[in-house]
Amino acid sequence: MGDLPRRDVSNHLLFEVATEVANRVGGIYSVLKSKAQVTTAEYGARYTMLGPLNYASAQVEVEEIQPKDPALIKTIKSMGDRGIKTLYGRWLIDGAPRVLLFDTKTAYYKLDEWKGDLWSIAGIPSPPDDGETNEAIVFGYVIAWFLGEYVYHEQERAVVAQFHEWLAGVALPLCRKRRIDVTTIFTTHATLLGRYLCAGSVDFYNNLQYFDVDAEAGKRGIYHRYCIERGAAHSADVFTTVSHITAYESEHLLKRKPDGVLPNGLNVKKFSATHEFQNLHQQSKQRIADFVRGHFYGHNDFDPENTLYLFTAGRYEYRNKGVDMFIESLARLNHRMKSAGSNTTVVAFIIMPAQTTSLTVEALKGQAVIKSLQDTVRVVEQNVGKKLFERSLAWHEGQELPEDKELITSTDKIMLRRRLFAMKRTTLPPIVTHNMVNDSDDPILNQIRRCQLFNHPSDRVKVIFHPEFLNSANPVLPLDYDDFVRGTHMGVFASYYEPWGYTPAECTVMGVPSITTNLSGFGCYMEELIENAADYGIYIVDRRMKGVDDSVNQLCDYMFEFTRKSKRQRINQRNRTERLSDLLDWKRMGMEYVKARQLALRRAYPTSFDTDTSEEPGFFDGTELKVSRPLSAPGSPRDRSGMMTPGDFASLQEGREGLSTEDYIAWKLPEEEDPDEYPFPL
Ligand code: UDP
Ligand code: G6P
Ligand code: GLC
Repeated sequence: MGDLPRRDVSNHLLFEVATEVANRVGGIYSVLKSKAQVTTAEYGARYTMLGPLNYASAQVEVEEIQPKDPALIKTIKSMGDRGIKTLYGRWLIDGAPRVLLFDTKTAYYKLDEWKGDLWSIAGIPSPPDDGETNEAIVFGYVIAWFLGEYVYHEQERAVVAQFHEWLAGVALPLCRKRRIDVTTIFTTHATLLGRYLCAGSVDFYNNLQYFDVDAEAGKRGIYHRYCIERGAAHSADVFTTVSHITAYESEHLLKRKPDGVLPNGLNVKKFSATHEFQNLHQQSKQRIADFVRGHFYGHNDFDPENTLYLFTAGRYEYRNKGVDMFIESLARLNHRMKSAGSNTTVVAFIIMPAQTTSLTVEALKGQAVIKSLQDTVRVVEQNVGKKLFERSLAWHEGQELPEDKELITSTDKIMLRRRLFAMKRTTLPPIVTHNMVNDSDDPILNQIRRCQLFNHPSDRVKVIFHPEFLNSANPVLPLDYDDFVRGTHMGVFASYYEPWGYTPAECTVMGVPSITTNLSGFGCYMEELIENAADYGIYIVDRRMKGVDDSVNQLCDYMFEFTRKSKRQRINQRNRTERLSDLLDWKRMGMEYVKARQLALRRAYPTSFDTDTSEEPGFFDGTELKVSRPLSAPGSPRDRSGMMTPGDFASLQEGREGLSTEDYIAWKLPEEEDPDEYPFPL
């Protein structure tokens, strides 16, 4: 062991490599952004995220600064001398982490050379016409180049490089082949084959062991991408994923059993008064109600006080995200609510970006006519007020009080009538807010058509499809996603393929109940941790042991049950949901990342650790004790605080020394609040 490299492991540096650094695509952006605060608290200037430079998003999200680390300065300079443009700066988010972004376009002059090299060193082929793979190759080679140079300039400290997902994975076989003196972690947030197989009509979970992986990848035209992913998983010192369900999938599809699970956390923001989130719900709900009034103009025949807002959201993966099941369940819910004579209305939103050309005229008009009506009513209000005041001034004893009829003039009436006529509509309120490029082939629209959810006045369930991510600059629904979520009553994520699933987790920390499935990493995680999850506003649909029809009915039952709750019950449930927040905080979840880095350091630099390292942490051995729920405390999540860290039912074990865990906390269920004590009316 004498000639094994020795580097300072306790003061090591950390690079995290991903394509979604300061560039939102999906959940990986959420991982990096929400985790930044704990990781910078732990590492300070020793932490840098590496990603491709997307000028449009970097302009908004990154502030350029000058590097101070001499090794970094030299590396950036030497790459710059060979044409590689970079942007070093702070990502303008909580924790303000340092990021180094590479303009991959400036490295394309080497694409052919690198493609040839990848084939000769790793046997990974790459067809000419796959732009995404080309991008992954260029990015991977640039990162390997960077790391190779960096550790040449920085000889003292150990370097941990953690790579997220196959798109950032090409550098891993390169680091191994070139023996770059870093230790590596590959974290996959899904598998390519998993995503593809599930999107088709395959009984995925019952056949995981039996798939002929190469053939399946070949049939789908993704063999080369699959090779990159598998190569990355096998070349990393430590291989991890985000949930146990994906660990099992990775073992079979990528043929390497992950060393551990790194569940995703969130950056939980606490308000000084806990009930503040209830106020925020009310405020955001009003803004959603404003939109709904406009969207349903001429058909506002349902009571806003008795309307519940449900939604699903995410990247447009029709089957994987369970939109098929959601729509089918909504149709059944509609039927049940009608049969039960319910006077509640459910407005169900589907927020999923699809190809669109623009907002529809109808959607814009809806908001405009309501705005004009509001303006007109305001003018009439003022006129009436003025007249009433003048009449009252001129009043003498013995005279009648001013007549209502005299107060509103014929001009006011004409003005109002004009507005009312503008609200007349011969069609039903539309389903979709945008002009779709592929309206007639769109799976969501077709399913809505099949189920005949057409926003008819008699329907208790109305549907709105918003085929674009939300943002506050949108003229029709001007709300950021977070604010929108706060204003809703429930999120529904009936996923079939979902390695983690941030969307229901985000609902939880905002105190919004959600429905998820036991095929999502988050659903399984919560099911494992909380005995009576539904009381806490975490409903989990069984998509494993039940047939599709039964799962649809279960989802429908959950939603129906929810529509029957009183306002007070909803408020209480939101309180219980919000109490789970700390459970999902990175301050707790981040522990698994700490362990993964320790394991990587031990594997690469065993001699740098003082104690005996012959015994390596075991895989998934589940030796931790689980504390059962005390009988005296019914209705609580399983209390394992102090005993376990998030991945423990079963994963990476702690190294015996050198863990810097002071930034991380154990979890305790906070006290339940009594809404009667709120300083505002309910
Ligand atoms: N999201 C968003 N705007 C929207 C809808 C969703 O920013 O209008 C975000 C959401 O906050 C979540 C991410 O998209 O963090 C989706 O992540 P998830 O893990 O649920 O799924 P993925 O897309 O990674 O498969
Ligand atoms: C929050 C607010 C209350 C409001 C309630 C509405 O709790 O603080 O003032 O009455 O939300 O709840 P709902 O479930 O009907 O939207
Ligand atoms: C992936 C998965 C999603 C997960 C996210 C972050 O894109 O589809 O389920 O939440 O990564 O890990």
